[in-house]
Amino acid sequence: KLPKSVTIKEVGPRDGLQNEKHLVATADKISWIDSLSRTGLSYIEASSFVHPKWIPQLADALEVLKGIKRNPSVTYASLVPNIKGLDRALESNVDEISVFMSASEGHNVRNINKSINETYPILGEVVKEAKMAGKTVRGYISTVIACPYDGPVAPAEVRKVADHLFNMGIDEISLGDTIGVAVPNQVECLLEELLPHFGPNRLAMHFHDTRGTALANIVKSLEMGITIFDSSLGGLGGCPYARGASGNVSTEDLLYMLHEMGINTGIDFNAIIKSAQYIERKLGKKLKSKQMEIKRAE
Ligand code: HMG
Ligand code: MG
Repeated sequence: KLPKSVTIKEVGPRDGLQNEKHLVATADKISWIDSLSRTGLSYIEASSFVHPKWIPQLADALEVLKGIKRNPSVTYASLVPNIKGLDRALESNVDEISVFMSASEGHNVRNINKSINETYPILGEVVKEAKMAGKTVRGYISTVIACPYDGPVAPAEVRKVADHLFNMGIDEISLGDTIGVAVPNQVECLLEELLPHFGPNRLAMHFHDTRGTALANIVKSLEMGITIFDSSLGGLGGCPYARGASGNVSTEDLLYMLHEMGINTGIDFNAIIKSAQYIERKLGKKLKSKQMEIKRAE
């Protein structure tokens, strides 16, 4: 019933860092991504071409993308909010563009300063230009379970946004539980709404672990046929424009679980731990994942 293998998309260098106050030096980000490129990961979200005033930590996106050593078996992606961001992304020659919006008005306007309806044409233009430049495009939908400003979000609202994004020609949608409130039966309701329309192959899950429910939600998603999961080294992460948001599910905790379940990821657990220890030193704070706690105790 469970899949034999899954794809893990490492979002640490983007989602992981964007909420960190301590600015990591550009050279250290480059070394970190280079170490991630040697772990067996097939996908790394390396940075974000948003407004540098909104996310100061990632103001050096172009330098980072230009500085890393590309491993040909890794897809390097970056967040892009609009055409201005796309211009810089194309200059960086990133492999994949990730556009993003929310299923709820409250978060959408606080995060990208536009209503949902104002956002569609902006993203539509980005998708069109990115495709013309030969890029694949991923779309994030945030607040798929609940919004910190508007409360619970109905699965039908998520489906509406997903319909718009797929109609633009987006290749894959990542469903974000931005504030980490989801529990497995809510994930089941959401996927029951989406799977009949979009199938499992173009949907990824993006769980934040604010309340410790991310791994349970991932097991539920696996049981329903999802095979793509976003995670972040050390459980770093969070959206600064979502009140109460904290870290993504940790890559190393997810790897431990999947490998013990006999599910293949192609990723070297020990190499991931070394890479997590590297960014832990650079951030000067203890990373909160269970696996990093175990390593520190050894
Ligand atoms: P805005 O102020 O409405 O933008 O911001 P604007 O189009 O009105 O332009 C205002 C000024 O910004 C102009 O400059 C533009 O040129 C400039 P001026 O003419 O005044 O000198 N500008 C830019 N500069 C650099 N790069 C750009 C850019 N765009 C405009 N790309 C905007 C709108 C979308 C830009 C802003 O709201 C923004 O950058 N928001 C980003 C917020 C963000 O990064 N949030 C975190 C990522 S989302 C997330 O974490 C959730 C996720 O992980 C999934 C989940 O967990 O749910 C993906
Ligand atoms: Mg996120």
